Amino acid sequence: MSKRKILVTSALPYANGSIHLGHLVEYIQTDIWVRFQKMQGHEVHYVCADDTHGTPIMLRAEKEGITPEALIARVQKEHERDFAGFHVEFDNYYTTHSPETRHYSEDIYAKLKTAGLITSRAVEQFYDPVKQMFLPDRFIKGECPKCGAKDQYGDNCEACGAAYAPTDLKNPYSAVSGAIPVKKASEHFFFKLSDNRCVDFLRAWTTSGTLQPEAANKMREWLGEAGENKLSDWDISRDAPYFGFEIPDAPGKYFYVWLDAPVGYMGSFRKLCDDKGIDFDEFWQKDSTAELYHFIGKDILYFHALFWPAMLENAGYRTPSKIFAHGFLTVNGEKMSKSRGTFITAESYLQQGLNPEWLRYYYAAKLNATMEDIDLNLEDFVARVNSDLVGKYINIASRASGILHKHFQGKIGNMVLGLHTQGIGSPTENIREYRDVVLEKLVLHADSIARLYEQRQYSAVTRLIMELTDNVNEWWNDLAPWELSKNFSKPKNPGDPELLLRVCSVVIESFRLLTLYIKPILPELTKNAENFLGLDRELKFEDVNLHLSEGHQINPYQHLITRIDPKQIDAMTEANKPALAPTSDTHSRTRHAEAQQHATAPITDIISIDDFTKIDLRVARIVNAEHVEGADKLLKLTLDIGTEQRTVFAGIKSAYDPEKLKGRLTVMVANLAPRKMKFGLSEGMVLAAGDGNGLYLLGPDEGAQPGMRIK
Ligand code: MSP
Ligand code: ZN
Repeated sequence: MSKRKILVTSALPYANGSIHLGHLVEYIQTDIWVRFQKMQGHEVHYVCADDTHGTPIMLRAEKEGITPEALIARVQKEHERDFAGFHVEFDNYYTTHSPETRHYSEDIYAKLKTAGLITSRAVEQFYDPVKQMFLPDRFIKGECPKCGAKDQYGDNCEACGAAYAPTDLKNPYSAVSGAIPVKKASEHFFFKLSDNRCVDFLRAWTTSGTLQPEAANKMREWLGEAGENKLSDWDISRDAPYFGFEIPDAPGKYFYVWLDAPVGYMGSFRKLCDDKGIDFDEFWQKDSTAELYHFIGKDILYFHALFWPAMLENAGYRTPSKIFAHGFLTVNGEKMSKSRGTFITAESYLQQGLNPEWLRYYYAAKLNATMEDIDLNLEDFVARVNSDLVGKYINIASRASGILHKHFQGKIGNMVLGLHTQGIGSPTENIREYRDVVLEKLVLHADSIARLYEQRQYSAVTRLIMELTDNVNEWWNDLAPWELSKNFSKPKNPGDPELLLRVCSVVIESFRLLTLYIKPILPELTKNAENFLGLDRELKFEDVNLHLSEGHQINPYQHLITRIDPKQIDAMTEANKPALAPTSDTHSRTRHAEAQQHATAPITDIISIDDFTKIDLRVARIVNAEHVEGADKLLKLTLDIGTEQRTVFAGIKSAYDPEKLKGRLTVMVANLAPRKMKFGLSEGMVLAAGDGNGLYLLGPDEGAQPGMRIK
């Protein structure tokens, strides 16, 4: 088998949110495939990065009072921690806000321009006259043109489900400043996707085996029939203020996030090449024979199967070998939901003490090569993991190693038959049958398993592995070696020590093979299993052709994995239900927006008393209050809560003169995680009510003392 050169990517997660179990479908799917290819001995590089540019990041950083750079650095750390927590092992995890990504973005843009594929024209968009910026759809709110529901986003209505353009909203307002947006024209750059060079190329490319059949059908729909031209040019620029890369020959214009995001694949790989001395061009030049695969969700197929290959092709680079799109995660058959507690973050799953490999196994058991959605049914999750991993696979090791250590010092015996034969139907005949059928069958399935991994048919892989595991367990039960073991030291009836040793040895050898097969799915568990087996290096796929030799020493069995307790699942969904609402976001919204929000804000989901008591509210005396230089919304408060003093930056400048606050009592959240802001560390939050007509700090009745808990 010749060594392949393979570059693999997963989609770059947005830097404005946490990794959740939906994301993990993709990263786990990719990681399993990469680990499998590495076990095959190929040269594989797996890169990813945070997708950091765009207006939402810019605005969120501003709200937090930090720079976008500080925000994306913090989020990147969190993302890397979450991925490592689920054993997703990138060769490089990077950021799109990098010199490498900037270089290739500019390079591709320049080449497309030279090719005559960039044009410009004026575009009219909603503009926030107070904030002085163009508003992306999700920052425009207003009344649904169809049902009249208030406070709906610019692209669709959460009340009636209608989809529309932001310009259709009634009484629109800016979610950033509350101002009424105005329409304003500005010059935008476009990539001429409708150019025949792109259309003809894409018609061929999308039907040349690069896409799954369902995806290729979608493309046929989007591309239309031959002769037809359904593609529109693609707007690739945004105006300042924007967080991203400024377009070199167009001051004040920035590359739109979707232009530099896929280029982030190249940027991250470039960094890896520079660190490790890998030849970048060998992977990206036009006639490259290396393979390039992008794992993505079905929602971003349009970008990866149309824009991206068209950009690469016309800028003189190679195009992807294949795009692997997957479906979306549902939990208990429904869309992930915050109120049901099924919008589960990677962090909270791990914090609840759940084992990441349980999820890896369950996803593998559900995943195939199609774009169908996959369901995490929490009851089935518990049942499946407990029965397959604990009840079947691990069981093999614990049973056989007990006997092996009890009677044979943990040493493997001779697994080759021939010395010892009795009559037909005797236990030894059973062993022969095993040698010929069960163990042989295990080895013979190596190719099928490899093929199924290669084709991303993980549910078929796990099914096959469990079938083989069942065979081993059945055979063990038929031979009942524990009976032989019982008689082992009885001088009158010593059983058959050789038979006993052989059965245990063959079972341990089966466990070695099963471990090898399941290794891409369960990297940590199988590392411990390799340890238990006394192997001196990690298993590779070609090790199916070896076997444990006579006299090989295995280690005493130690717990490899525990069962899931259904209580853990309940605790996790409870922990992911929304907690008490007021966030500091509310403070920084201006009055108009607040009026719109609060006048109609419905009561949020029910919480339990336990959720409420998690929030430690204390009476606090404002011992000092002052303006903060450079902050237009914040006051710096020094709060005395009896046992200590805290500094809090509160967004109440519009409503209070700091002098008048000094000496007052108020209420603070005393156990809120401290937050680093541009102006310093904020160690809590004060409570205030706001409805657009003002902002009202809460205060306790007379007699309350600083430090008293509010219950
Ligand atoms: N930033 C873009 C991708 C740019 S790639 C050049 C993006 N980011 S994302 O954070 O929204 O999603 C990252 C990946 O996770 C996408 O492939 C997306 O399809 C996938 N998923 C996000 N939520 C998901 C589910 N609920 N279920 C399955 N996959 C999901 O898109
Ligand atoms: Zn509506």
